[in-house]
Amino acid sequence: MRLVLLGPPGAGKGTQAVVLSEKLKIPHISTGDILREAVRASSDIGKKAKSYMDKGELVPDNIVTQIVVERLAKDDALKGFILDGYPRTKSQAESLSSALGLRGIKIDRALYLKTSVSTIIARLSGRRICSKCNAIYHTKNSPPKKAGVCDKCASGLYQRDDDKEGPIEKRLEVYNKTEGEVVNFYKDEGILKEFSGDMDVQELYRSLIIAFKEEALL
Ligand code: AP5
Repeated sequence: MRLVLLGPPGAGKGTQAVVLSEKLKIPHISTGDILREAVRASSDIGKKAKSYMDKGELVPDNIVTQIVVERLAKDDALKGFILDGYPRTKSQAESLSSALGLRGIKIDRALYLKTSVSTIIARLSGRRICSKCNAIYHTKNSPPKKAGVCDKCASGLYQRDDDKEGPIEKRLEVYNKTEGEVVNFYKDEGILKEFSGDMDVQELYRSLIIAFKEEALL
Protein backbone atom coordinates (compact mmCIF):
# COMPACT_ATOMS: atom_id res chain seq x y z
CA MET A 1 0.00 0.00 0.00
CA ARG A 2 1.27 3.51 -0.82
CA LEU A 3 0.02 6.13 1.59
CA VAL A 4 0.51 9.80 2.27
CA LEU A 5 -0.37 11.31 5.64
CA LEU A 6 -1.62 14.88 5.53
CA GLY A 7 -2.38 17.23 8.39
CA PRO A 8 -1.03 20.14 10.38
CA PRO A 9 2.02 20.05 12.65
CA GLY A 10 1.07 17.98 15.70
CA ALA A 11 -1.84 16.17 14.00
CA GLY A 12 -0.20 12.88 14.94
CA LYS A 13 1.12 11.93 11.48
CA GLY A 14 4.42 10.60 12.84
CA THR A 15 2.74 8.75 15.71
CA GLN A 16 0.26 6.97 13.42
CA ALA A 17 2.91 6.32 10.76
CA VAL A 18 5.00 4.34 13.26
CA VAL A 19 2.15 1.96 14.17
CA LEU A 20 0.84 1.70 10.60
CA SER A 21 4.35 0.91 9.39
CA GLU A 22 4.53 -2.03 11.83
CA LYS A 23 1.04 -3.25 10.95
CA LEU A 24 1.39 -2.93 7.16
CA LYS A 25 5.11 -3.87 7.05
CA ILE A 26 6.03 -0.93 4.85
CA PRO A 27 8.55 1.81 5.67
CA HIS A 28 7.65 5.10 7.33
CA ILE A 29 9.33 7.91 5.41
CA SER A 30 9.31 11.24 7.20
CA THR A 31 10.83 14.22 5.39
CA GLY A 32 11.10 16.02 8.75
CA ASP A 33 13.17 13.14 10.22
CA ILE A 34 15.39 12.92 7.12
CA LEU A 35 15.98 16.68 7.15
CA ARG A 36 16.72 16.79 10.90
CA GLU A 37 19.22 13.95 10.41
CA ALA A 38 20.85 15.90 7.55
CA VAL A 39 21.09 18.98 9.78
CA ARG A 40 22.69 16.93 12.59
CA ALA A 41 25.18 15.43 10.11
CA SER A 42 25.89 18.90 8.64
CA SER A 43 25.55 17.48 5.12
CA ASP A 44 25.12 19.84 2.14
CA ILE A 45 21.35 19.30 2.24
CA GLY A 46 21.32 19.82 6.01
CA LYS A 47 23.20 23.12 5.71
CA LYS A 48 20.75 24.36 3.06
CA ALA A 49 17.66 23.19 5.02
CA LYS A 50 18.62 24.42 8.51
CA SER A 51 17.77 28.11 8.16
CA TYR A 52 14.30 27.31 6.74
CA MET A 53 13.54 24.73 9.45
CA ASP A 54 14.70 26.99 12.29
CA LYS A 55 12.25 29.64 11.10
CA GLY A 56 9.39 27.17 10.66
CA GLU A 57 9.37 27.76 6.90
CA LEU A 58 9.19 25.17 4.13
CA VAL A 59 12.46 23.88 2.71
CA PRO A 60 12.46 24.55 -1.08
CA ASP A 61 10.47 21.99 -3.10
CA ASN A 62 13.43 20.89 -5.26
CA ILE A 63 15.53 19.88 -2.21
CA VAL A 64 12.73 17.93 -0.52
CA THR A 65 11.53 16.26 -3.71
CA GLN A 66 15.05 15.03 -4.50
CA ILE A 67 15.26 13.49 -1.00
CA VAL A 68 11.89 11.74 -1.40
CA VAL A 69 12.50 10.42 -4.92
CA GLU A 70 15.88 8.96 -3.86
CA ARG A 71 14.35 7.40 -0.74
CA LEU A 72 11.41 5.87 -2.63
CA ALA A 73 13.79 4.15 -5.04
CA LYS A 74 15.31 2.05 -2.22
CA ASP A 75 14.44 -1.65 -2.09
CA ASP A 76 12.37 -1.50 1.10
CA ALA A 77 9.97 1.02 -0.46
CA LEU A 78 9.29 -0.94 -3.64
CA LYS A 79 6.21 -2.71 -2.25
CA GLY A 80 4.77 0.28 -0.43
CA PHE A 81 5.47 3.16 1.93
CA ILE A 82 3.93 5.73 4.24
CA LEU A 83 4.96 9.29 3.44
CA ASP A 84 4.77 11.63 6.45
CA GLY A 85 5.27 15.37 5.88
CA TYR A 86 5.39 15.14 2.09
CA PRO A 87 3.80 16.44 -0.10
CA ARG A 88 3.15 19.81 1.49
CA THR A 89 2.47 21.86 -1.65
CA LYS A 90 0.60 21.20 -4.86
CA SER A 91 3.90 21.34 -6.72
CA GLN A 92 5.29 18.57 -4.46
CA ALA A 93 2.13 16.51 -4.99
CA GLU A 94 2.53 16.86 -8.75
CA SER A 95 6.24 15.95 -8.61
CA LEU A 96 5.45 12.87 -6.53
CA SER A 97 2.72 11.81 -8.92
CA SER A 98 5.08 12.22 -11.93
CA ALA A 99 7.95 10.35 -10.23
CA LEU A 100 5.67 7.44 -9.33
CA GLY A 101 4.04 7.55 -12.77
CA LEU A 102 7.44 6.89 -14.37
CA ARG A 103 7.47 3.62 -12.40
CA GLY A 104 3.85 2.82 -13.32
CA ILE A 105 2.59 3.22 -9.75
CA LYS A 106 0.52 5.73 -7.79
CA ILE A 107 -0.56 6.72 -4.30
CA ASP A 108 -3.44 4.52 -3.04
CA ARG A 109 -4.78 6.80 -0.29
CA ALA A 110 -4.14 10.23 1.19
CA LEU A 111 -5.13 10.16 4.88
CA TYR A 112 -5.98 13.67 6.04
CA LEU A 113 -5.88 14.20 9.81
CA LYS A 114 -7.91 17.38 10.30
CA THR A 115 -6.99 18.80 13.70
CA SER A 116 -8.08 21.76 15.84
CA VAL A 117 -5.64 24.52 16.79
CA SER A 118 -6.01 23.91 20.54
CA THR A 119 -5.04 20.26 20.09
CA ILE A 120 -2.06 21.21 17.92
CA ILE A 121 -0.65 23.68 20.47
CA ALA A 122 -1.07 21.25 23.40
CA ARG A 123 0.60 18.43 21.48
CA LEU A 124 3.56 20.34 20.06
CA SER A 125 4.47 22.11 23.27
CA GLY A 126 4.61 18.77 25.17
CA ARG A 127 6.34 16.69 22.48
CA ARG A 128 9.71 15.12 23.27
CA ILE A 129 11.76 13.06 20.80
CA CYS A 130 14.48 10.47 21.23
CA SER A 131 17.83 11.83 20.05
CA LYS A 132 18.82 8.40 18.72
CA CYS A 133 15.79 6.42 17.45
CA ASN A 134 13.33 9.33 16.89
CA ALA A 135 10.65 7.70 19.09
CA ILE A 136 7.93 10.25 19.86
CA TYR A 137 6.71 11.03 23.41
CA HIS A 138 4.51 13.61 25.05
CA THR A 139 5.01 14.93 28.55
CA LYS A 140 1.31 14.29 29.40
CA ASN A 141 -0.26 12.08 26.69
CA SER A 142 2.51 9.50 26.34
CA PRO A 143 5.33 10.12 28.80
CA PRO A 144 8.39 7.85 28.91
CA LYS A 145 8.71 5.54 31.95
CA LYS A 146 11.69 7.56 33.18
CA ALA A 147 11.54 11.34 32.56
CA GLY A 148 13.85 12.44 29.74
CA VAL A 149 14.90 8.89 28.76
CA CYS A 150 13.71 6.84 25.76
CA ASP A 151 11.89 3.59 26.71
CA LYS A 152 13.14 1.89 23.55
CA CYS A 153 16.87 2.68 23.45
CA ALA A 154 17.61 4.55 26.75
CA SER A 155 18.96 7.62 24.90
CA GLY A 156 18.12 11.17 25.96
CA LEU A 157 14.95 12.96 24.83
CA TYR A 158 14.95 16.49 23.46
CA GLN A 159 12.44 19.17 22.51
CA ARG A 160 12.58 20.24 18.85
CA ASP A 161 13.65 23.89 18.39
CA ASP A 162 10.61 24.42 16.16
CA ASP A 163 8.26 23.15 18.92
CA LYS A 164 8.71 26.41 20.83
CA GLU A 165 6.13 29.19 20.81
CA GLY A 166 7.39 31.45 17.96
CA PRO A 167 8.18 28.69 15.41
CA ILE A 168 4.89 26.86 16.20
CA GLU A 169 2.92 29.95 15.17
CA LYS A 170 5.00 30.34 12.02
CA ARG A 171 4.60 26.66 11.09
CA LEU A 172 0.83 26.89 11.45
CA GLU A 173 0.74 30.03 9.32
CA VAL A 174 2.85 28.32 6.63
CA TYR A 175 0.76 25.14 6.83
CA ASN A 176 -2.54 27.01 6.49
CA LYS A 177 -1.37 28.60 3.22
CA THR A 178 -0.91 25.27 1.40
CA GLU A 179 -3.26 22.86 3.22
CA GLY A 180 -6.14 23.48 0.80
CA GLU A 181 -4.16 22.95 -2.40
CA VAL A 182 -2.74 19.59 -1.26
CA VAL A 183 -6.04 18.34 0.16
CA ASN A 184 -7.84 19.37 -3.04
CA PHE A 185 -5.21 17.66 -5.19
CA TYR A 186 -5.98 14.30 -3.58
CA LYS A 187 -9.72 15.01 -3.39
CA ASP A 188 -9.69 15.54 -7.16
CA GLU A 189 -7.82 12.24 -7.56
CA GLY A 190 -10.62 10.59 -5.55
CA ILE A 191 -8.27 9.08 -2.95
CA LEU A 192 -8.63 11.46 0.00
CA LYS A 193 -9.94 10.05 3.32
CA GLU A 194 -10.55 12.49 6.16
CA PHE A 195 -10.23 11.66 9.88
CA SER A 196 -10.33 13.75 13.03
CA GLY A 197 -6.77 14.26 14.30
CA ASP A 198 -8.32 15.25 17.66
CA MET A 199 -9.02 11.60 18.51
CA ASP A 200 -6.68 9.86 20.92
CA VAL A 201 -3.91 7.68 19.48
CA GLN A 202 -5.72 4.32 19.75
CA GLU A 203 -9.08 5.65 18.59
CA LEU A 204 -7.53 7.22 15.49
CA TYR A 205 -5.50 4.10 14.72
CA ARG A 206 -8.68 1.97 14.98
CA SER A 207 -10.53 4.34 12.63
CA LEU A 208 -7.73 4.10 10.06
CA ILE A 209 -7.69 0.30 10.17
CA ILE A 210 -11.50 0.10 9.91
CA ALA A 211 -11.36 2.39 6.84
CA PHE A 212 -8.70 0.20 5.19
CA LYS A 213 -10.81 -2.90 5.82
CA GLU A 214 -13.98 -1.26 4.52
CA GLU A 215 -12.17 -0.47 1.28
CA ALA A 216 -10.64 -3.95 1.09
CA LEU A 217 -7.15 -2.49 1.34
CA LEU A 218 -6.37 -4.82 4.24
P1 AP5 B 1 7.96 17.77 10.15
O1 AP5 B 1 8.88 17.06 11.04
O2 AP5 B 1 7.31 17.03 9.05
O3 AP5 B 1 6.90 18.50 11.06
P2 AP5 B 1 5.33 18.74 10.90
O4 AP5 B 1 4.68 18.41 9.62
O5 AP5 B 1 5.20 20.14 11.33
O6 AP5 B 1 4.69 17.67 11.76
P3 AP5 B 1 5.08 17.30 13.16
O7 AP5 B 1 6.23 16.35 13.15
O8 AP5 B 1 5.26 18.53 13.99
O9 AP5 B 1 3.73 16.62 13.70
P4 AP5 B 1 3.09 15.18 13.56
O10 AP5 B 1 1.79 15.34 12.86
O11 AP5 B 1 4.05 14.17 12.97
O12 AP5 B 1 2.81 14.86 15.09
P5 AP5 B 1 3.42 13.75 16.06
O13 AP5 B 1 2.94 12.40 15.68
O14 AP5 B 1 4.91 13.94 16.22
O15 AP5 B 1 8.69 19.02 9.46
C1 AP5 B 1 9.57 19.86 10.18
C2 AP5 B 1 10.14 20.91 9.23
O16 AP5 B 1 10.88 20.28 8.17
C3 AP5 B 1 9.10 21.78 8.51
O17 AP5 B 1 8.68 22.88 9.28
C4 AP5 B 1 9.90 22.21 7.24
O18 AP5 B 1 10.81 23.23 7.54
C5 AP5 B 1 10.69 20.94 6.92
N1 AP5 B 1 9.96 20.05 6.00
C6 AP5 B 1 9.56 18.76 6.25
N2 AP5 B 1 8.92 18.26 5.19
C7 AP5 B 1 8.90 19.23 4.24
C8 AP5 B 1 8.35 19.31 2.93
N3 AP5 B 1 7.66 18.29 2.38
N4 AP5 B 1 8.52 20.46 2.25
C9 AP5 B 1 9.20 21.49 2.76
N5 AP5 B 1 9.74 21.49 4.00
C10 AP5 B 1 9.58 20.37 4.74
O19 AP5 B 1 2.68 14.14 17.43
C11 AP5 B 1 2.90 15.37 18.08
C12 AP5 B 1 2.78 15.18 19.60
O20 AP5 B 1 1.45 14.81 19.94
C13 AP5 B 1 3.65 14.05 20.17
O21 AP5 B 1 4.13 14.46 21.43
C14 AP5 B 1 2.73 12.84 20.29
O22 AP5 B 1 3.10 12.00 21.36
C15 AP5 B 1 1.39 13.51 20.57
N6 AP5 B 1 0.26 12.83 19.89
C16 AP5 B 1 0.26 12.37 18.60
N7 AP5 B 1 -0.95 11.87 18.30
C17 AP5 B 1 -1.73 12.02 19.41
C18 AP5 B 1 -3.08 11.72 19.69
N8 AP5 B 1 -3.89 11.17 18.76
N9 AP5 B 1 -3.57 12.02 20.93
C19 AP5 B 1 -2.77 12.59 21.86
N10 AP5 B 1 -1.45 12.91 21.65
C20 AP5 B 1 -0.94 12.63 20.43
